[in-house]
Amino acid sequence: MSDVLKRMRLDGRVAVVTGAGSGLGRATAHALASAGAIVAVTDIDSLAATNVADEIAREIASEISGDAGDNRASSFTMDITNEDQVESVMAGIVEQHAKIDILINNAGVGARTATVDLTTEIWNRVVDINLNGQFICARTAGRYMVGMGSGAIVSVASIMGLTGGGKHPNAAYHATKGAIVNLTRSLAVEWAPRGVRVNAVAPTYVMTNLTKRLLEDDETKAYILANTPMHRLADPDEVAAAIVFLASDAASMVTGHTLPVDGGWMAR
Ligand SMILES: NC(=O)c1ccc[n+]([C@@H]2O[C@H](COP(=O)([O-])OP(=O)(O)OC[C@H]3O[C@@H](n4cnc5c(N)ncnc54)[C@H](O)[C@@H]3O)[C@@H](O)[C@H]2O)c1
Repeated sequence: MSDVLKRMRLDGRVAVVTGAGSGLGRATAHALASAGAIVAVTDIDSLAATNVADEIAREIASEISGDAGDNRASSFTMDITNEDQVESVMAGIVEQHAKIDILINNAGVGARTATVDLTTEIWNRVVDINLNGQFICARTAGRYMVGMGSGAIVSVASIMGLTGGGKHPNAAYHATKGAIVNLTRSLAVEWAPRGVRVNAVAPTYVMTNLTKRLLEDDETKAYILANTPMHRLADPDEVAAAIVFLASDAASMVTGHTLPVDGGWMAR
């Protein structure tokens, strides 16, 4: 009989998480480590990445006696829009650990602005990070994975990549998240014969630095809760759990899929 919990374990897998210095990336880095993975905590914010890697090491050390935990998480400064930096960080990870098994393509930004006021500069910045940056990371990690004949990529899209939007205009965000949904399908189809699975999650609203100001507005919060059948926000750990599932062998037949983690938002 197959042991499903064993299939969820990631012992010995090498995972790279982008934008892991806060919010969903941080929760995901913790979740991957707790499932057994060796985690490369990467972020454009070096200090934030270092702090998260330290937190993980301390957590492992407190759970496993005799393990200092510092071989299970390391931090890297990595701006996902900087091709040279992404390539050199990933090459360094491969040099140290011989492989990359998992990429969590998480880093992203928004720009809530009425489209008539949305400058090309802001549009380009969002596209550069949310779409071009995720592409650069997927291509770079994908080269190692395709070469190895195995791997799993999970991208963080959004329910806003599956619908026309929420309460506030955010066209660049919606467009890039929609593009991630189809990039996920495209890479999944291309790399399925090479043993690499590519999936995405589409979270609803989660309280993070990205959404703090929005979610502190009572009217907006009420709108979100009214449109969520489960009548609450998602917790970062709930998104991280879905990501771990998609990255693990428990999802070995799942590819090209975007999994909403949304309390029923998309089911309405
Ligand atoms: N919070 C939500 O409600 C929500 C909902 C759906 C999807 N998401 C998505 O989740 C992902 C993570 O967002 P979050 O809510 O945790 O936000 P966050 O602001 O807490 O975290 C984003 C992290 O990405 C990093 N970052 C920004 N630009 C970067 C770059 N160029 N290169 C590398 N790192 C960079 C930041 O330093 C930060 O640590 C994003 O893709 C976001 O679109 C968030």
